Amino acid sequence: MSSGSSGSTGPVGSGADNSDAHELAARTSGARTSSPRPSGARGSAARGSAPFAGFDPDAVPSPSFVIDERAIEDNLAVLGEVQERSGAVILMALKAFALPAVFPRVAEVLSGVCASGPYEARLGKECHGGAVHTFSPAYSPDDLEEVLALSDHVVFNSPSQWLRYRERCRESRCEFGLRVNPEHSEAEPAIYDPCAPYSRLGTTERALRTALAETPGLLEGITTLHMHTLCEQGSEALERTVAALEQRFGEWLPHMHRLNLGGGHHITKPEYDRERLIALVKRLRETYDLEVYLEPGEAIVLGSGVLVATVLDVIENGMQIAILDASATAHMPDVLEMPYRPEIRGGGMPGERAHTYRLGGPTCLAGDVVGDYSFNEPLTPGDRLVFEDMAHYTFVKTTMFNGVPHPALALYHSGTRRLRVLRRFGYHDFLTRLS
Ligand SMILES: Cc1ncc(COP(=O)(O)O)c(C=O)c1O
Repeated sequence: MSSGSSGSTGPVGSGADNSDAHELAARTSGARTSSPRPSGARGSAARGSAPFAGFDPDAVPSPSFVIDERAIEDNLAVLGEVQERSGAVILMALKAFALPAVFPRVAEVLSGVCASGPYEARLGKECHGGAVHTFSPAYSPDDLEEVLALSDHVVFNSPSQWLRYRERCRESRCEFGLRVNPEHSEAEPAIYDPCAPYSRLGTTERALRTALAETPGLLEGITTLHMHTLCEQGSEALERTVAALEQRFGEWLPHMHRLNLGGGHHITKPEYDRERLIALVKRLRETYDLEVYLEPGEAIVLGSGVLVATVLDVIENGMQIAILDASATAHMPDVLEMPYRPEIRGGGMPGERAHTYRLGGPTCLAGDVVGDYSFNEPLTPGDRLVFEDMAHYTFVKTTMFNGVPHPALALYHSGTRRLRVLRRFGYHDFLTRLS
């Protein structure tokens, strides 16, 4: 990934601030905290406004995930326009980002959430308040009871799950869907491709025809076809996937009330072709007389979050190595899973600036390494670093491996400059997960 585009001269600050104040007045940023528009490896923000303008990394505990509510508002404005012009219904995928403090703002634009099981369904119902659409690759009988009580729409992954629970479902007020697999791969790497060979996600055309041959009334009660196949992709990829979907499953679409096109749409990226998406949604609605749903997660919060970390030590072993209080494996797992290289404010590629370091976390894992970065100034213990674009698939996936402290959660608004530390984590949180 490209180096940071910041004009700042080095690490962005120094000295930990472990003040217990729950609400802190944001200080104006110093010379080393100039805030470029984040453009992380997993995406970048849509609008020209400057997320994190005026944000001082020294004003939050370290480590901290900090969310700029104003950047989310910008993304919501884009999504609201797409919704209005295309007639699509856009749901918020809670698996990508679940910070209840911003749900009221989200709910002003997006009327519902998509959940992955009972916990997210409950979170959506209690904290967002809109429609809850739940999909899980498989439901246990207990999970299904909870999901039926909390959801408006429940999507099954296979004919066998639907047949197992169909009678019970008929007693509920929910509507039901089936996830299909159009067997058209666009997403890379394979770990993010639900259409990869032997995928367990979604029913293939062949599996559907086989099940229909055995149970001709199988689709009675199914009013939604659902697919999720993309990852951080444009509307061209969606168009090609929809063509595959229509080829394989087109004969059932006229009988459906809705078509859910899943997530993975990078709608709020500046280069995303939104006109193409709008035209596609309109065509599907008109051709099949159904509602079209989209359920992005990442697009809602692109460019809206940072992870603030502190340098704990600098050692030498063939190169300079800085050990941070933030961990790749515990706090930024996609850095290792995807893998990708997050941008750091004021950081460049190795050798690009005067001082190059390997940045690693405080856990025992030898591979707990974020990457190699260079800075204009040497790193010293106490320096603060700001990792860009850390809102999506971060704090929803973190662990307390090795008992490493979990980053605090903070909410900032670059319009009002208001900063609130929402939550600090401590030993009690570690203990209660284990006992
Ligand atoms: C079924 C489903 N819907 C929606 C999403 C959200 O995807 P994204 O955050 O990439 O938009 C995912 C992500 O894995 C998913 O599995």
